[in-house]
Formats: sequence, structure tokens, C-alpha cells
Amino acid sequence: MLYYACAVSKIADPKLASKGKLSYEWASSHMLILARTIEKMEKQKPLHGIHVGFCLHMTKETSMLAMGAKRLGADVSICAANPISTQDDIAAFLASQGINVYAWRGETAQEYNDCIRSVIRNEPDIITDDGADAHVKLHSEKEFAKLMPMGGTEETTTGVVRLRALQNDGLLRYPVIAVNNAYTKHLFDNRYGTGQSTIDGIMRATALLFAGKNVVVCGYGWVGRGVANRARGMSAKVFVTEVDPIKALEAHMDGFTVVPIKEAIKLGDMFVTATGQTGVVSGEHIESMKDGAILANAGHFDVEVDTKYLESHSKSKREVRNNLDEYTMKSGKKVYLIGKGRIANLVAAEGHPPEVMALSFSNQLLSILHIVKNHVKMEKAIHDVPKAIDSQIAVNSLEAMGIKIDKPTKEQIKYAKSW
Ligand code: NAI
Repeated sequence: MLYYACAVSKIADPKLASKGKLSYEWASSHMLILARTIEKMEKQKPLHGIHVGFCLHMTKETSMLAMGAKRLGADVSICAANPISTQDDIAAFLASQGINVYAWRGETAQEYNDCIRSVIRNEPDIITDDGADAHVKLHSEKEFAKLMPMGGTEETTTGVVRLRALQNDGLLRYPVIAVNNAYTKHLFDNRYGTGQSTIDGIMRATALLFAGKNVVVCGYGWVGRGVANRARGMSAKVFVTEVDPIKALEAHMDGFTVVPIKEAIKLGDMFVTATGQTGVVSGEHIESMKDGAILANAGHFDVEVDTKYLESHSKSKREVRNNLDEYTMKSGKKVYLIGKGRIANLVAAEGHPPEVMALSFSNQLLSILHIVKNHVKMEKAIHDVPKAIDSQIAVNSLEAMGIKIDKPTKEQIKYAKSW
């Protein structure tokens, strides 16, 4: 049930703030490089006078970023990037810290969209988004037609794809930094973060054994390869489906069995979609699955598994465990769907571990600062995270972990430049 915590915030229950604070502290103590970046600049308040609007999954790691922006002087508004991924204790903690929070777990589609609008109505100078729902609203709704933020950032692959389409149509109104594309983001967050947390989500939702199961991973991009490798590490037999011949070849040489979805469908005990595409597991596929098959989606939107088909073509449905719905099809076969086909690692688990989000959110925070400093001369286009930021995050991470590496010698530098 929605509770109005204070004049502005809309959250589930303000009494959860102390629990959220503990989670925030736990995450902070494992996000060293972000903590150090914030501490270094806290006195100078480089975000003083800036309003940052966040549309991100409301997790303990996100609270570290939002609090970081506040400690650097920003006014902060935040909503969720998914209607059922919010951790209500975190929302309560952030609201207790003077941040405008519009998020609770279990928002309807209308409420979800209104929460995003509430953030935009605060007229943020910077929009930090995950999936581009806030960016797209700002570009498509009449109410926001005159708003002109300094710029924005985008956290995930699907969001960058949508923003690129907006740019290609000549409609992008402000510069956006594609944080997802930084090496220190997608190589670690998408691969190791989603890899581990998706398996975690499946385990929490089902409590079943991976060893010996046939696990089908649809898509061998950064997320898919993370999931496939982690599932293999749990002794599952992993099958990969792909549409890109290079990715398929990579999956094959990484030792996975590559098959078309039509074949995979008959083999799989568990399916994980990680493509960012729509209709990857269709109604026809669902009808060909084994009895008891489990479906999980790790992609950003709930479009990869045809959940509408499950709803309209099943005889009955019941929630058999937290975040696990059982559909009995007309044939009598049962199919299980995790987290309503939404991003399983955030709905059925807690999202990425803090160590990996320290990398992603260092990119976010430093990109926000970059925009504040440079927005006047930045083209209204999609930009990469500046190379210097990406490299510095890797250097700082190694340092924080106590890992030392070599430097090329003068002779090696000269050799690398010779023809
Ligand atoms: P990617 O672009 O690296 O990989 C996607 C892969 O799916 C590509 O190799 C593509 O060829 C393949 N693919 C496309 N259509 C397909 C189809 N019909 N069948 C099989 N394969 C197909 O993207 P990335 O970074 O792996 O992200 C995938 C999705 O996961 C996106 O929606 C992204 O936003 C989301 N994501 C989710 C996270 C989470 O926390 N669950 C974290 C990071 C990204």
C-alpha cells in the first residue's frame, strides 16, 4: 500500500528506513572506489546547485550513488527503473535523507509512469536513466517539451539502443553519455554482475538444483555469456541460442552447445533470455517445452518471453513461491515463470553485487560531473564515457584490491610504435 512519507516522497513504508540504512552501509563498505571518489570531492561540492534525477533500480547499491550525488551538493530525485524491482527499505532510507523518492515495489504501469513524471517535474539538470524510460518521456510528452536538461546518462544496453534510435531520428535534445558502453561497465556489470545475480534470482525463486539440468541461454552478448558461464560453473549443461554468427561462433568455441531456439525449446529444463529483443520465447515455443520448464528473463524489458500468451492460453495460474508463477497449459503441462517475466535478478534477487556496481556507478558519477563541466560544448548526441575516466576507474579498482601490474618499458613503447 502506498504511503506518503513527507511532502514530496511517495514510498511504501517510512518505518523501513533503519533497515535500509543497514543495507546502504553494507553496500558502501563494498564499493570502495565509489566511496573514495565521493570522499575526495565532498568538501568542494562540485554538484552544488545541480538537480540530478535518477531513474534506476532502487537497490542498496543505487542508494550509494544517490547519496554520493547528494554529498557532492546535488539536489536529488529518484524513481525506479522497473515497477517491481524496488527494495522498499532502500526507498525509505533515501526519503529519510532528504531525497525526493517516488518508488515502491509493485507499482502499476500507470503508477510507474507517474513516478518517472514526478522526477521529471522537478526539472533535473541531469537525468541518469536505466532503460531510457525517463529520457523517452522527456522527449515524447508534451508536458516536458520545453525542458532542456544539461544532459543525461544511460546505464543499460537496451537504453542505449533506444537513445540511438532517438538520435537517428534527429530528436535527441541533450547530450547523453552511454555509461553502459564503458569497458569498466559492461565487461563487469553485464557479465559478472548479471551472471551471478540472475542465477541467484533463479535459485531464490525455485530453490532447485542446477547440476545436471539443461539450461538454455538465449543471447550470447555480455549478459548471456555471464549467465552461461555461471550456469556451467553450477554443473548445468548449457545450450546457447543466437542470431549473430560471430557471437554464436564464440559461444561454440567457449565450449557451449549452440542450437536454434526450436531445438533448444525441447531440451531445456530452464531458460534464460538475455537478448534485449522481443518475442524470443514465443507461444509456439512454450507449447513445445518440457513439462515443468522454468522461464527467467535477464533482459531489461518484459518482452523476451511471451507472457501474454501464458496469460491467455493457460487453463490456470497460481503463485507457488515468491516470484514464481505456475501456469497450467490446456494440454495439462505446467510451465513456471520467474518474476512475471521481468528482470529476474532484480525482481527475485537483489540485483548486482556491490563490488561490480562500484564500477558502474563510478562511471555514472564521473559522467555526471563531466556533463556538468562540459555540457555547453558537448554535441546533442550519444557520447562514450571519456577514455580517461574509464581507465582511471580500472586503475583505482586494482589499487583498491591491492593488485599491482607492470608498466611497459621504454623499449617496449618504442617497439609498439615501430613499423
Ligand atoms: P548485447 O547486445 O551484448 O547482447 C545481446 C545478444 O542477444 C546479442 O549477441 C544478440 O545477437 C543476441 N540476440 C538478439 N536477438 C536474439 C534472438 N532472437 N535470439 C538469440 N539471441 C539474440 O546486450 P547485453 O549487454 O548482453 O544486454 C542484453 C539485455 O540485458 C539488454 O536488454 C540489457 O539492457 C539487459 N541488461 C540487464 C541487466 C540486468 O541486470 N538484468 C544488466 C545489463 C544489461
